[in-house]
Amino acid sequence: MVDMAHKGATISSSMYGIFFEEINHAGEGGLYAELVQNRSFEEKEYPEGYYAEGDRLYPGSAKNHLTGDTYSSFFKWNEEEVPGWSLETKGEEKARMQLTKNNPLHKAAANSLQITIPESAEEVSLINEGFWGMGVKGKERYNLRFYLRAPDYTGNVTARLISSAGKVLAGSPVKLSDNTGWNEYKLTLVPDTTDAKARLALSFDEAGTVWVDYVSLFPRKTFKNRPNGLREDVAQFLAGMRPGFVRWPGGCVVEGITLNNRFEWKKTLGDPMTRPGEYDTWGYRNTYGFGYHEFLQFCEDLDSEGMFVCNVGLGCQARVGDACTEEEVQFYIDDVLDAIEYAIGDKSTTWGAKRAEAGHPEPFPLKYVEIGNENWGPVYNKRFDLFYDAIKTKYPQLTLISNHGLGDDVKNVAKTDMIDPHWYVAPDYFFKHAGIFDDQPRRDYKVYVGEYACNQGVGSGNMLAALSEAAFITGMERNSDLVTMASYAPLLENRNDRTWPVNLIWVDNMQVVGRSSYYVQKMAVENMPAYNLETEITPRLPQPAFLEVNGGIGVGTWKTQAEFGDFKITTAGGETQKPAIGEWTTVKEGWIVSDDLAVQVSPNTMTGLISEKSFHETYTFECKARKTGGAEGFLIYFGMRDENKEGYMFNIGGWGNSKTALQDVTDGQGAGVLSESAQTLEMNRWYDIKLVASGNNAELYIDGDLKIRHTPEAPLKQFAVSGYDEANQEIIIKVVNAEETPWFSTVKLKNSGRVSSSGTIITLSSDSLEDENSFEEPFKISPKTTTYNNFSSAFEYEFEPNSFTILRIGIKDEKIALH
Ligand code: AHR
Repeated sequence: MVDMAHKGATISSSMYGIFFEEINHAGEGGLYAELVQNRSFEEKEYPEGYYAEGDRLYPGSAKNHLTGDTYSSFFKWNEEEVPGWSLETKGEEKARMQLTKNNPLHKAAANSLQITIPESAEEVSLINEGFWGMGVKGKERYNLRFYLRAPDYTGNVTARLISSAGKVLAGSPVKLSDNTGWNEYKLTLVPDTTDAKARLALSFDEAGTVWVDYVSLFPRKTFKNRPNGLREDVAQFLAGMRPGFVRWPGGCVVEGITLNNRFEWKKTLGDPMTRPGEYDTWGYRNTYGFGYHEFLQFCEDLDSEGMFVCNVGLGCQARVGDACTEEEVQFYIDDVLDAIEYAIGDKSTTWGAKRAEAGHPEPFPLKYVEIGNENWGPVYNKRFDLFYDAIKTKYPQLTLISNHGLGDDVKNVAKTDMIDPHWYVAPDYFFKHAGIFDDQPRRDYKVYVGEYACNQGVGSGNMLAALSEAAFITGMERNSDLVTMASYAPLLENRNDRTWPVNLIWVDNMQVVGRSSYYVQKMAVENMPAYNLETEITPRLPQPAFLEVNGGIGVGTWKTQAEFGDFKITTAGGETQKPAIGEWTTVKEGWIVSDDLAVQVSPNTMTGLISEKSFHETYTFECKARKTGGAEGFLIYFGMRDENKEGYMFNIGGWGNSKTALQDVTDGQGAGVLSESAQTLEMNRWYDIKLVASGNNAELYIDGDLKIRHTPEAPLKQFAVSGYDEANQEIIIKVVNAEETPWFSTVKLKNSGRVSSSGTIITLSSDSLEDENSFEEPFKISPKTTTYNNFSSAFEYEFEPNSFTILRIGIKDEKIALH
């Protein structure tokens, strides 16, 4: 029932925005239109203090500022000598290439490529493979720009686009300059036909030595025809989300693995040839091509407000978590003040003048600054206050956002305008917590849900995930007095680099595919009312839920060294046994197991020592455990089955030793949180741990105290929110039915005056909750809009199975009785 006489909160026009981060090649090989990979030959540069071994990059000896731990894990490293580039020689002796910093083209991006062409070579081609090939379209124009230093070279140089089958798609001779230093060359290539995996070749036909740098190939047509611009198809997809705001540049990249590879906006300004780029937190190089100016320009082009996220002198706390000294904090404060001045300062200011020089004298629409990303703890809180004061004093018009979640930690800062809780969860979490904001206290700050996605146990992102997010959206919209902004994360994925499990939009060189979650976002934003209306629904009672406690039991760790002893199992009849842990199955390396002591010495994630034997219905598992090193705590497994890939675990001292939770184990990974407590762990202290499983319940006791009791409850699967669109004089009702059967409902419109019988229905549905869109079937799940002629002040409607439905119902009376 929707009551027109009960007007709720207004819905902010910037409610739904987008969050861009360089992750999954979202920009490089994604949104950013550059086709050449490693254009400046900087990809082998790693951050100061780091070292590479084979395909691993280690962050060195920086320490976590809260725990004092160093980080023993590693990051992806490309072992190729010159990533992205190769030489093809026609002739006997092979040509050679090598990176050099001698005679740099630009000191900030000092590497160039030296190519030695042997006498016997008829032709040598320097090939760039692009980002998994280059997507080029027949008859379109492509701008090639490169630099060559060829003081003694007397031969010809030819630029070509080569198809995946080796055919020349476009070619152009390069007229060499007489100048013996670095020379810039610009030409246009127009391929005859389309190719998804073309390559670029610079060919040389005489012996000699040449140096090449900054080889860049862009489609002439970019989004809004901006130079150094964005891929039109990808940007249009984002524009289709009508984002109220754009958050940039992250995400974890803001902080960096350590401060030494944090995102540095100042290095992203100016001619892209001069930008050094940085090893990206997500395992590849960010050229800084899609830089600060381009981000601000993109906000303006989308008619969106800008949100800049700054670093507070802390490296990513989920990784190394190093901190600059207190004296150095001012540097970071000045840095964000400069960034703001660049965006909105008058052109007479230092950084405002640089913006004007870059071609934009008017201010950009920067409206929000988030102070840090996913930072927490006493050091963050103290720094937050310093940043807040400094920014607010100079720019009172900006909305400042802290990293706090819904908990109490926000009390430890003097003032924030908004907090930013994040959720990456399993579908049931969103279904169960769709009402999480209903009873949140209203204080003097708003909530920005900066990152949320259902990404656990949902394949690559299926309809179930999308519907659980739609359910969560109904809760956010209903509480629009509190939740005023939200952005799904991550936004983009190049299909060849899925670093993060589930992402909103997929791209390859030719296609852009929106997952069902994309269409949920789009439908929400396209059907945003001006304000809420009181809505009551009677969802169907859920089916009963089961906790599958039958299976193996065991212990484990996550990035932690620990000892476990005094194992004891008690079964239903009260019979007690001491298990033969030496016969249990080990998951991952690092276990030293003797008679009654199991020691885990490695920094591995998700280790396990799990019984082969299954325990049924009612049993108790006890042991003592002590943590001797590392960032987290103990895992206590139960109900383990399918070769230990499925089951449950109590994750004690998880999430950086910040809490304890019962989690599903899905596909051998810790998945959705089912229940949680605030329990954390001390180093080198023995704890008595007891798990009690009985039928449909599981309990965790630590030192005799009950910490978690979990009895599963199936969540509701029907949700609704409604509001009034003043401009179109329509009631908008958003309804989720996440059950695989239709939902028959009577929709009553109370106090609505005369209702137009004809209106619009937009439906997103699928045959199965497991359905997904794909590159082959990109629109398998996409909204269908129909006209409906049976609306009235009380009408029957059958909501489709597995659906998100939006009803738009016209109201005939000009004046509606609103209280
Ligand atoms: O969205 C992916 C990552 O999730 C972001 O970088 C980070 O803020 C969060 O941990």
